[in-house]
Amino acid sequence: MKKLSQAAQRLEGQRMFQILTLGRDLERQGREILHFELGDPDFGTPENITQAAIEALKGHQTHYAPSGGLRELKDAASEVTVRSRGFRPAPEQLLVCPGANVMIYYAASCLVDPGEEVIVPDPGFVSYFSILKFLGIKIVRVPLREENEFRLDPDDVEKAVTAKTRMIIMNSPSNPTGAVMTEDQVKRMFEIARRRDVYLLSDEIYARMIYEEAGTRHYSPSRFDQCRETTIVVNGFSKSYAMTGWRLGVVTGPEEVISKMGLVLETTTSCVSPFIQKAGIEALKGSQEQIFKMVEEFRKRRDALVDGLNTLPGVRCLKPKGAFYVFPNIKNTGYSSEEFAARMLTDAGVALAPGPIFGDHAEGYVRLCYTNSIETINKAIEKMRKVLSR
Ligand SMILES: Cc1ncc(COP(=O)(O)O)c(C=O)c1O
Repeated sequence: MKKLSQAAQRLEGQRMFQILTLGRDLERQGREILHFELGDPDFGTPENITQAAIEALKGHQTHYAPSGGLRELKDAASEVTVRSRGFRPAPEQLLVCPGANVMIYYAASCLVDPGEEVIVPDPGFVSYFSILKFLGIKIVRVPLREENEFRLDPDDVEKAVTAKTRMIIMNSPSNPTGAVMTEDQVKRMFEIARRRDVYLLSDEIYARMIYEEAGTRHYSPSRFDQCRETTIVVNGFSKSYAMTGWRLGVVTGPEEVISKMGLVLETTTSCVSPFIQKAGIEALKGSQEQIFKMVEEFRKRRDALVDGLNTLPGVRCLKPKGAFYVFPNIKNTGYSSEEFAARMLTDAGVALAPGPIFGDHAEGYVRLCYTNSIETINKAIEKMRKVLSR
């Protein structure tokens, strides 16, 4: 075979998809596998959203659209930002993208040169690491600690900033831990980024998935600069609207940054399909009732999963305040994270993700997504108990 580029050799992809494939192989052999490995809501996309896409398809909205996105979708996103974050971004500050994942790639490729540094929470979303490695950017990892309920500590971030830092990534609520940062922590993150003159990429894809106990709310650093200088807000429809397969999101940032990110999109993808954008407009403007119902259901599932995990020998699990992940400590089971995940897949038929795929500071943990019914959650707990009690 002819040689591959060095960048291609550094690519890691998303290991959860590879675990899904292993699970599907076992299913083909007749095994029952309970799936907790992939962050994909099990709810259908709300009917009104699907209907909007069908109407757009029938109305022949099947051609190119403006590369930066339909104005109507940008206006709807602006309106939501007024309500959720307290400011109205200009249309030039918004870019409609095929999902949130590419936004991270567009931002890093436009703002950071190879050899320069980006600060990343560890454990963190797998794509951060794969994208930055692909681009030859140095990853500076800031460990998230269980004793801090896995919240990113601004003091740790401050210590990690150097003359070569170009961007800081934060993600609240977090994948893989479900941790939600406090108002004070978010404010301090913004202050650090502004003082050190670096971009702050705030991945807010789980912002609507917050379980508002004890005053928990989602805070965005964007409200301090209105995404005019420092903050870039990554957001998408995948998780909160159960639209993972539609590939749609809107990123907000400083005009000059968005303009360059838009050129990357225009160069590589041309535009997001207009009928998909029409569905997005309906998602933002239509009734939000189903979304609230989904969040309420996720809360019940979280409680069932966390309570169940805490009854398993050697397992200890915090109750996260957001997203749909739990990140239990499995150190006292005697298994490494990889062993635990492999054993649960083959012996219990429960597919989950080993912590270390999310970074270098996650040995002794595993991630489970509660995108499953309570019945399936209870069944998985009992299957895992059998394996751990042997
Ligand atoms: C933290 C985080 N950011 C971004 C994404 C990407 O989402 P999308 O489906 O919009 O590309 C995910 C998906 O798992 C995620 O967990």
